[in-house]
Amino acid sequence: MRAVICREFGEPAKLTVGDLPSPALKPGMVRVAVMAAGLNFADTLMVKGQYQFKPPFPFSPGHEAAGVVREIAPDVKDVRVGQRVMAFLGYGGFAEEVVANAGDLFPIPDTMDFVTAAAFPVAYGTAHGGLLWRAALKPGETLLVLGAAGGVGLAAVEVGKAMGARVIAAARGADKLALARAHGADETIDYAAEDLRQRAKDLTGGKGVDVVLDPVGGDAFDAILRAVNWEGRIVIVGFAAGRIPQIPANMLLIKNVAVTGLFWGAYRDRNPALMRESFATLLAWWSEGRLKPHVSHRLPLERVGEAMELMLARKATGKIVLTTGAP
Ligand SMILES: NC(=O)c1ccc[n+]([C@@H]2O[C@H](COP(=O)([O-])OP(=O)(O)OC[C@H]3O[C@@H](n4cnc5c(N)ncnc54)[C@H](OP(=O)(O)O)[C@@H]3O)[C@@H](O)[C@H]2O)c1
Repeated sequence: MRAVICREFGEPAKLTVGDLPSPALKPGMVRVAVMAAGLNFADTLMVKGQYQFKPPFPFSPGHEAAGVVREIAPDVKDVRVGQRVMAFLGYGGFAEEVVANAGDLFPIPDTMDFVTAAAFPVAYGTAHGGLLWRAALKPGETLLVLGAAGGVGLAAVEVGKAMGARVIAAARGADKLALARAHGADETIDYAAEDLRQRAKDLTGGKGVDVVLDPVGGDAFDAILRAVNWEGRIVIVGFAAGRIPQIPANMLLIKNVAVTGLFWGAYRDRNPALMRESFATLLAWWSEGRLKPHVSHRLPLERVGEAMELMLARKATGKIVLTTGAP
């Protein structure tokens, strides 16, 4: 099968596209012909050897894919050959075929195309898990989303609105903020040009925000730690800015603030029922038109290096999706 190949850790430019043997089908697994695969920040970390899990070489990156079921292991029930599915994967999505656990597949609604389906699982799943499971966001609360035009960020803007929150989107530059507004944000903060802490306070009558979803870390985290409301909750999702912030414990005590982590992917082993419940909610919201996945770039598999560079240069918005060219 044609696949993106990582033979050694390094910059995205080192990735090649060539032939790899199709992965073996083990019990409980399903072979999927991949039509499209979503790019995630974690893929850029994995090819550089900076992700918590390091697959053996050679491997194909790719945490999520959408396609058609080609083969199922004899013990698999509830999945049929020919079914359109989106899959959450450990890696391997940037290839013409991938083998996934049957439990990590979700049927694609009839009216959803493969590119949208490839952009869906990680961004929306993470946003919903962070806001519901970790922050217990309630209707009427104020939610601040950092990196609000990125994959997880833009999804969190929409999910926050669907959960009934007032959403403040923070991102770099007017274009990204306009996109966040088009996806439902009530207020915006340009953290490249404005004082994030002060603006968050000003937009909440001096109280601070109730919930923060933070996929960025670094200086933005330091600022928002000082701009949360009494009993505020901050969900740490990632460190796209590169620096892992340190937390002075006294800041938490003074306002009864909770800072909580999210490792969304771990729920597929630890609580798959919760994961399925979340997807049922998200797909219902999608079919009601409340979620509108935004894909700024669709590129063929061969342009994977360029796709990762676009993401790392902060030039993508919403998701980048790679296509295999399969009919
Ligand atoms: N914990 C989990 O379970 C989980 C799940 C999914 C993702 N994540 C993590 O969440 C983060 C976001 O993932 P994503 O796939 O949504 O990425 P993404 O689409 O690239 O979004 C990241 C955003 O971070 C901002 N950013 C700030 N400084 C940056 C820098 N130096 N380089 C790149 N971006 C920077 C960018 O927005 P501005 O330019 O507007 O600042 C960008 O839109 C990553 O750290 C990822 O590993 C964690």
